Amino acid sequence: MAALSPTSVAGLKPPSASLRLPRRVARKPRAVAPRYAPRRLSSSGRSSLSTARRGAFSHLTRSIALPPSLSRAVITPNQPDALYHSSDRGDKQISATGASLKDWSPSSWRDREALQQPNYEDADEREAALTEIANRPPLVFAGEARSLQAQLANAAAGNAFVLFGGDCAESFAEFRADGVRDTYRVLLQMSIVLMYGAGVPVVKLGRMAGQFAKPRSEDLETIDGVSLPSYRGDNINSSEFTPEARRPDPQRLVRAYDQSCSTLNLLRAFSNGGYASMQRVSKWNLDFMEDREKGKEYRELADRVDAAINFMKACGIDEETTPSMTTTDFFTAHEALHLGYEEKLTRLDSTTEEYYGCSAHFLWCGERTRQPEGAHMEYFRGVSNPIGIKISDKSDGDSVVSLVRTLNPENVPGRITLISRMGAEKLREHLPRLIAAIEAAGLNVLWVTDPMHGNTVKTDNGYKTRPFERVRDEVMAFFEVHEQMGTHPGGVHLEMTGQDVTECTGGTAEVTIGDLELRYLTHCDPRLNASQALELAFLMSNKLAGMKERGAIGKAR
Ligand code: PEP
Ligand code: CO
Repeated sequence: MAALSPTSVAGLKPPSASLRLPRRVARKPRAVAPRYAPRRLSSSGRSSLSTARRGAFSHLTRSIALPPSLSRAVITPNQPDALYHSSDRGDKQISATGASLKDWSPSSWRDREALQQPNYEDADEREAALTEIANRPPLVFAGEARSLQAQLANAAAGNAFVLFGGDCAESFAEFRADGVRDTYRVLLQMSIVLMYGAGVPVVKLGRMAGQFAKPRSEDLETIDGVSLPSYRGDNINSSEFTPEARRPDPQRLVRAYDQSCSTLNLLRAFSNGGYASMQRVSKWNLDFMEDREKGKEYRELADRVDAAINFMKACGIDEETTPSMTTTDFFTAHEALHLGYEEKLTRLDSTTEEYYGCSAHFLWCGERTRQPEGAHMEYFRGVSNPIGIKISDKSDGDSVVSLVRTLNPENVPGRITLISRMGAEKLREHLPRLIAAIEAAGLNVLWVTDPMHGNTVKTDNGYKTRPFERVRDEVMAFFEVHEQMGTHPGGVHLEMTGQDVTECTGGTAEVTIGDLELRYLTHCDPRLNASQALELAFLMSNKLAGMKERGAIGKAR
């Protein structure tokens, strides 16, 4: 199995804190108050950041202490590798980022029952495709995943907000540079709007460059008495309802890897090559709101954001003087569902001698595959990436606590993100008890809301859709519940696109049920279109601004 070479890891520009507001505009930093009594030692470790850069961003440096048993160092968002200055982690039952290594290997999941895997007809064909994947380079580097974990730890402590967004399922047919660019651009616009409201950095993660495999409730789909294997994502089979299209084809895994690679290449170029420039990104397209009552309100907020950027420019903070005005961190995430594929991209990081899932920076486990004894939990336990777990209204506190403990036995900050997906009403009823259970157990998690999967409805004309107003209500309920509980609403996880699709109804642009047939392009679940996504960001920004004023966000709580 190929190992990441130390030079390739060290040679990467180290990801630093996301789009940063400069010192005079940003909040004052606050040290994170960890729940366990930490032993904090100096952060005098190796860092590849130049002194100049470190100085420029020091306002965002927050110390995050690790449990005493784990580390003798302090990590900061800008110094992820400070994690590895400790030399006394014993016989490594736990990785430095919190993975549980006892009796674990990238293939130990094979001894457990793996749900939601395709049934390939030909084992040789499957093995040949997996060998091809194993011989390809990793898509991401371990150092980047560690940087993300440090930023997520910062968010869990109340000092950042996290924005996940992208397709429900990426597709081969819809893959275009323009599509990647448009989704990326809307995510950046949303993050500026959110940063303005919340007054904290926004960590950006795309459901992109690997989000192909889909869990399905039935193995077979039956139409007019004919049953065929369900469509499981373009990396497995094709959505047309014919026996040939629905046959799981292992070569699709290789094609999905290649598409992920091209997508990631573009995302890296956009993030570092000038496309992420604040001046450029804030060229808002608000035409959709013109002549509408709500539009005026959003336009005013956009004008205030522009004024803040112009003010910074007047202070001499512009694209020439400040790299953070033109570059940004952008991370990738997907559901690690197809375990054969994930295993083959799980690589040993030679800096730390620990395994990372190198198919994306962040991997999550879906609602349907998180059985404690199942294969997916076994895989997730030992990879050193930051990981997410989807939870629903049916989850009970004790089992969520137990899952978090299994995946993060030393309670390392930033390792676990709990992504709730309940629907607005159910969230108000069930999220408080789950927060209470996690708090009572003293567990360090990042709370994120997925307001999509609990709000799907089927229309009379046969479309799966999501009313924008229900999505909005779940996000607002999430904020309100956390404010009541005194915990941090750490982020939002959206299915969205930069394209002008008609998949979710409502919003200021008023997509009607009749409009759904116009541009219904998703290969799986309905996505917010560009204007609905931006509108949601404006609404969240206003809400977060109010919470910030009340002291409910932006500080360690
Ligand atoms: C998804 O995020 O696309 C998904 C299938 O989610 P869940 O596991 O929450 O249903
Ligand atoms: Co989905």
